[in-house]
Amino acid sequence: MSKRIDTWNTAKQRGEKRVLVTAYDYPFARLAEEAGVDGVLVGDSLGMVVQGHRDTLQVSLEQMAYHTEMVARACTQSLVFADLPLGTYEESPAQCWRSATTLLRAGAEVIKWEGGLEFKEHLEFCAARGLNVCVHLGLTPQRLRQWGSFQRQGATPETAERLVQEALALAQSGARFLLLEAVPADLAARITQQSAIPVIGIGAGPDTDAQVLVMHDVLGLGKAPPFARAFVDGAALLRSGLADYTQAVRDQSFPATSRKR
Ligand code: KIV
Repeated sequence: MSKRIDTWNTAKQRGEKRVLVTAYDYPFARLAEEAGVDGVLVGDSLGMVVQGHRDTLQVSLEQMAYHTEMVARACTQSLVFADLPLGTYEESPAQCWRSATTLLRAGAEVIKWEGGLEFKEHLEFCAARGLNVCVHLGLTPQRLRQWGSFQRQGATPETAERLVQEALALAQSGARFLLLEAVPADLAARITQQSAIPVIGIGAGPDTDAQVLVMHDVLGLGKAPPFARAFVDGAALLRSGLADYTQAVRDQSFPATSRKR
């Protein structure tokens, strides 16, 4: 694990896989760091897995900054990525920079936004000022309402070719990372091979330089998309702990009568 972005480029060249997971608060970010992940993403998936909304559209910049602060406090080794939420960057390069600096001040080290060459000027403006940008391509959940549903991207030869060209152009324009969501595995492999910068995948097959998953999906704490895997039945484990506590209070086996210090 390292906070230095050049180590991600070295890892790419060596074919060493890097691991990211989302986190939204201090205790979970600390667990992720203790588990040895390389990066923690404060994703706007926050809207769904923490706030209980159906999509990510309700999340505000202030909420992202609040959660980024908690996560950044826990991440002494792993790189902290944070999402710009809907409506906080699209308007102009200056708006994008202002919002990005709010998250930088909160402790983020890499700023991610959804969308490609339509934000080329934003990217060049921010990169010229030293911002580490991760560009999220493929399925971009902030556009869910425009699309009407979660849709796989790059499935036709034309859209695949467009995505390859876009990814390469974004790296040329100053992006430090690409994130590909829900694109065919062979397309993700092609982009990863041709890209000079690290490519992070989610639902994009095994060949990207890094993988990211939502924490709650990894831990089995909610309904996960088909490409994710729960590595523990966290919901069952936690429910059982809470049920044991409830039972112990009701049957008066907790607290103990004699106080232990
Ligand atoms: O918001 C998020 O958690 C994300 C990941 C799913 C990549 O963007």
